[in-house]
Amino acid sequence: MTDVGVSDMAMYIPPFYIPHRELASARGVPWEKYQIGLGNNKMSILPNWEDAVTMAANAGAQLLEKTGTGPKEIRQLVVCTESGVDHSKPVASFVQGLLKIGSRCRVYEIKHACYGGTAGIVHSIDWIARNHNLPKKALVIMTDIALYGFGSAGEPTQGAGAVALLIEKDPLLCSIDTSVNGVFSRDVFDFWRPTGHRFPVVDGKYSIACYLTALEGAVSHMRSNLGLHNERVLEAVDYLVYHMPFTNMSRKAHRHLIDFEYGDLGLEDREQLFVDTFKAKVEPGLLGAREVGNIYTGSVYMGLVSLLEAEAERVAGKRVGLFSYGSGCGAEFFVCEMKPEITKIIEGLRFQEQLNRRKRITFEQYVQICSKGWAEILYQPLEIQTFKDTFTRFAFTGLKDHKRQYVCL
Ligand code: CAA
Repeated sequence: MTDVGVSDMAMYIPPFYIPHRELASARGVPWEKYQIGLGNNKMSILPNWEDAVTMAANAGAQLLEKTGTGPKEIRQLVVCTESGVDHSKPVASFVQGLLKIGSRCRVYEIKHACYGGTAGIVHSIDWIARNHNLPKKALVIMTDIALYGFGSAGEPTQGAGAVALLIEKDPLLCSIDTSVNGVFSRDVFDFWRPTGHRFPVVDGKYSIACYLTALEGAVSHMRSNLGLHNERVLEAVDYLVYHMPFTNMSRKAHRHLIDFEYGDLGLEDREQLFVDTFKAKVEPGLLGAREVGNIYTGSVYMGLVSLLEAEAERVAGKRVGLFSYGSGCGAEFFVCEMKPEITKIIEGLRFQEQLNRRKRITFEQYVQICSKGWAEILYQPLEIQTFKDTFTRFAFTGLKDHKRQYVCL
């Protein structure tokens, strides 16, 4: 079997954040609800001069540079998002232009709520595996702005960011055997954003129930693909990263997995198993969800980056289970087999450095930024230059003849 997977990853986090303590005090909500109940500490806020395109290009540029990949080596560019900027022209085409990706490349956008990125990765892996005699590289980028109405239940779960993955044969970071992936999908209205709506419509509690049902379905499918009888998926992986719309969703998911796979154990034993395995296998991947918030398509991959930074060499040679969920709904459970030599790749992630560089904004500034419609986004060259750094390289400068304009800073 051809070995295909991920050779490296890069993250892009916008330069502003607001602490949940400040949001809670402005909304008259006890801060414990956000920080203990949801598990969130800060949320990333996108400045006016950025959008899904600039975040994707910022993550992609970092990845190409650190892996020494020439833009023309990329033969498939997939951008996965539910924050698209045009009904026809894909975000991927804007990114192709900004990154100077060549013309002999398949370029497209995928949308399936937060699940879209996983579809892009699986398709890219399968495409490379089928053409394994040719030197093919795919760049898959997840980019999203999680935006909810002011004062809504979803508001404290907002965030923004992008994750880029380089997919190739003989990968340096991890292999993924897509033939055993467990999938689940069905037609539900748990979270959706009708065309023209700025904010999603959410049936919050139902969305959690749909997520947990999808987890069961995907895990069952994977168990049957692997031919597992007595062995559980939980035992077959060393770490687990769940899609995290808010940090504590991972607790709900992990508890559900244990109840589902260990129904034969008594309540106390299951609780002990939950406590032990959550700490060892899940907790190391929570930093991004806690400090950035939900980034929709990139959420589970930001969890993987968090895990790699937290555990460093301990992840080498291990099996990491990923659960990807997108409302509507579609889900996939799959395993990343980590390579033994990944120290250099982990050092190049620089996730904590990006978190540390962010500027705290006030509640009033947050309201001002988020009140602007996307058509009102203004180019502020002087302010942008303040944030130009190794991570922020592109800015959106407005519309001209209905065409979105971008600059390289
Ligand atoms: N101190 C400590 N904890 C407190 C508290 C306090 N003072 N007050 C409340 N809490 C706890 C609650 O007990 C609850 O914890 P549990 O769920 O463990 O019981 C937690 O804080 C949240 O409280 P509520 O359930 O009352 O919160 P809510 O009704 O205001 O909304 C939500 C929660 C439904 C997740 C809402 O944030 C929401 O709609 N979010 C967007 C949708 C979403 O994220 N869905 C998840 C699955 S769908 C998906 O995954 C796709 C996607 O990315 C969107």
